[in-house]
Amino acid sequence: MNIEIKSLHFAYPDGTEALKGISLTIASGEQIAIVGQNGAGKTTLARHLNGLLKPSGGTVFVGDWETTQHPVAKLAARVGYVFQNPDEQLFSRDVLTEVSFGPRNLGYAKEKVDALAQRALALTELSEKTEVNPYDLSPTWRKMVALASIIAMDTPIVVFDEPTTGQDAANVARIARVVAELKREGKTVIAITHDIDFCAENFERVVALSRGQILLDGATRDVLGQEAVLAQTYVEPPQLTRLGKRLGLKETVVNQEELLQALKK
Ligand SMILES: Nc1ncnc2c1ncn2[C@@H]1O[C@H](COP(=O)(O)OP(=O)(O)O)[C@@H](O)[C@H]1O
Ligand SMILES: [Mg+2]
Repeated sequence: MNIEIKSLHFAYPDGTEALKGISLTIASGEQIAIVGQNGAGKTTLARHLNGLLKPSGGTVFVGDWETTQHPVAKLAARVGYVFQNPDEQLFSRDVLTEVSFGPRNLGYAKEKVDALAQRALALTELSEKTEVNPYDLSPTWRKMVALASIIAMDTPIVVFDEPTTGQDAANVARIARVVAELKREGKTVIAITHDIDFCAENFERVVALSRGQILLDGATRDVLGQEAVLAQTYVEPPQLTRLGKRLGLKETVVNQEELLQALKK
């Protein structure tokens, strides 16, 4: 299921023009990171994908559905959106109820709801915490509950808004495993992120936004290699990429493995 965004413009009621002509196609099964400075329009763009926001101009298609033509509740079957702040998303008294809510709300039979919830809980390492109130969990585990409750809906497209912000290294690794599993299942994963190392290690394609427009869009290596252009949106390439450049490597390296390989040559 492709996402097709054409000349998307969006202005908030106070007149702020957050998106100024975004055109972007995301193919089924792609893993894509959206990066850019604070206020670049990343969250505004992401919220158009599940219909939480509707274009002021242009169109957003999710598969054959134009988002303006379908209610948010229906779009939820195609696009899962994990909020940056779990506290905006979670409302149930225990983890199992929270994670079961989405698939139940999509109208699935009880057996299917249970199976989807168990799979999501296992993937996020929450199987031992099903009876806990999400608010008694640490912020890192609350983040995992937020991920699980969206993954349980089994949507072909999953959007993460700043998944690693405020997370410790162990949880960043957990989130990376979730992204890898979704990729293995053929799902489209879109992450908005400030975390350029996470982006370099887990995403094949990067879109850099600046002031409501696309500055760069391409393979992760090509985008992260363009240090001067990225600087316009205050994004620094990963430490390793910069180190590679200073070492005089000809190719752009984006992770440890590539740096080691390049040094061996
Ligand atoms: N509810 C809102 N009302 C008015 N302006 C907003 C609102 N939310 C965001 N903006 C503005 O829209 C622009 C894009 O914001 P946002 O999409 O949140 O950026 P990002 O996620 O990249 O930090 C910014 O100028 C921001 O101040
Ligand atoms: Mg944001």
